Amino acid sequence: MSEAQYIQWFPGHMTKTRRQMEQDIDLVDAVAEIVDARIPVSSRNPDLPALVGKKPYLVLLNKCDMADPAATAEWIEALSAVGFTALPVDCKSGKGLDQFFKSVQTVCADRLESYRAKGMVGKPLRVMVAGIPNVGKSTLINRLAGKNKAVVENRPGVTRGNQWFSTGRQLELLDTPGVLWPKFADRTIGEHLAFTGAVADHVLDKETLAVRFLELLAQRYPAVLTEKYGIDASATEPYEMLCVLAQRRGMRCRGGEFDTERAAAALLEEYRNGKLGRMTLERVK
Ligand code: G4P
Repeated sequence: MSEAQYIQWFPGHMTKTRRQMEQDIDLVDAVAEIVDARIPVSSRNPDLPALVGKKPYLVLLNKCDMADPAATAEWIEALSAVGFTALPVDCKSGKGLDQFFKSVQTVCADRLESYRAKGMVGKPLRVMVAGIPNVGKSTLINRLAGKNKAVVENRPGVTRGNQWFSTGRQLELLDTPGVLWPKFADRTIGEHLAFTGAVADHVLDKETLAVRFLELLAQRYPAVLTEKYGIDASATEPYEMLCVLAQRRGMRCRGGEFDTERAAAALLEEYRNGKLGRMTLERVK
């Protein structure tokens, strides 16, 4: 991808969102950032911790049903070691969300204590749900609150467009207004976001993307290439692998040559649909 494409790709609404979030953070007791457990680095917004400041901060490794469980455990350990409260969740099925409720109580223990001292037992805690597009924010909110939009009283400083959701379990969720973008700091981040389908496909050439993906698979999950496609990753160049995929599927262009473009699209689709198994593309080490 050229530099120009990168620049076009970055939507640049961040300043407005940032300002709005700075105000909204004052309204909540904690912030929960949702990331994609398959790409915990690329799917984070690195500006968020600074925005959150001293508020309790939780990192939810979502879509853990599609990630490699061993890698998720490593990420949880690594994030915990640097002071984050991190937990694996699968918002689609709801797995891990009970733990989320418990963790919110734990990180907000001081707030709960002050409510108790003031005789305000039962007052809900408020958590902002943040994250880049497609990580599962709506899925989380739907799971926890359904259509239970909380009635917004006249709270000071409430930004127009803010949406509060009540979970009915002493917890209210604030849906982040505006969009928090990932940082396309380098090519790898953009590619990893594209592999998982977090960014639209048309920004990258599918064939190139698939070749890069095969390179990564050869490095991290060579057994998948052997088992699924009969490819010996140690002896095959990534572009050749793509030809093998086209050949196995009988994908040919009019002139008879392998239709590597179709093969590329099929490969990426399979990965995004979880058909290649549970894989994590970014590891702690
Ligand atoms: P967003 O609000 O952060 O933009 O994300 P959203 O909830 O819309 O989720 C984006 C996609 O990720 C959705 O798929 C959603 O179903 C899927 N998703 C969210 N959480 C999980 C999870 O824990 N596991 C899995 N496997 N998928 C998850 P979609 O294809 O856009 O829609 P659909 O499949 O729900 O129809």
